[in-house]
Amino acid sequence: MNDLQLRKTQVPGEFDRIAHRYDLLNRLNPGYRKHLHWSAERMELARDANVLDLCCGTGLSTEALVDAYPEAGITGLDASSGMLELAKTKPQLERVRFVCGDAMHPRSAGLEPARYDGVFMAYGIRNMPDPDLCLGRILELLKPGGMIAFHEYSVADSRFSKAIWNLVAGTIIIPFGALTTGSSELFRYLRRSVNQFDGVEAFKERLLAAGFVDVREKPMDGWQRGIVHTFLAARPQ
Ligand SMILES: C[S@@+](CC[C@H](N)C(=O)[O-])C[C@H]1O[C@@H](n2cnc3c(N)ncnc32)[C@H](O)[C@@H]1O
Repeated sequence: MNDLQLRKTQVPGEFDRIAHRYDLLNRLNPGYRKHLHWSAERMELARDANVLDLCCGTGLSTEALVDAYPEAGITGLDASSGMLELAKTKPQLERVRFVCGDAMHPRSAGLEPARYDGVFMAYGIRNMPDPDLCLGRILELLKPGGMIAFHEYSVADSRFSKAIWNLVAGTIIIPFGALTTGSSELFRYLRRSVNQFDGVEAFKERLLAAGFVDVREKPMDGWQRGIVHTFLAARPQ
């Protein structure tokens, strides 16, 4: 395991530490919630679909699913018990089933194969120590024809996007994150992991190689344009 992969295994523990500040930090990020809603809606699932939110954190991505699919059966999984405890306190998420577990090992967390019409993974795949292994396991969770939406940073294909990302991370996210939580470590990791994550085309290739079909990318607006993306894909019928 290289240094960055090892670092990724420590990420849930660090989210435990900053969980109480997570929603505040993201409330100050213009577009954060709106863009999660866009990605959730872009899956175009049935209102009563069975949906999994992988790496659901404090439930901000889960809220987007609840709003988009009001009659859906929704499960949220995260490895940080601190983040999950906050998600469980939110009245609008009362009907969501939350599970503490590792997205690299969904079967060990009790998630059944071929059970989900849709999987949502917002800011999750970049943190997986072995993304290809994780993609194979997500594919198994989906019903044939089921959809996945990854909501993720990807800047490697554009020098402009990379420059804006490093400007925003260096001048706003890292200093403000440190001020709010008392440590800059997780936010420095965020900058580094985004810089090292696949470009748009490489991630689409990775999805195809994992066995997904109908792979597409859709953009955001605001400062996240060209930086945060929805990646849509389906399990073959
Ligand atoms: C940036 S947060 C995103 C939370 C939520 N999806 C959102 O959009 O606000 C990333 C989450 O991934 C979780 N995470 C990281 N590695 C994980 C793993 N291997 N298994 C499950 N959750 C993990 C962290 O605990 C954290 O809650």
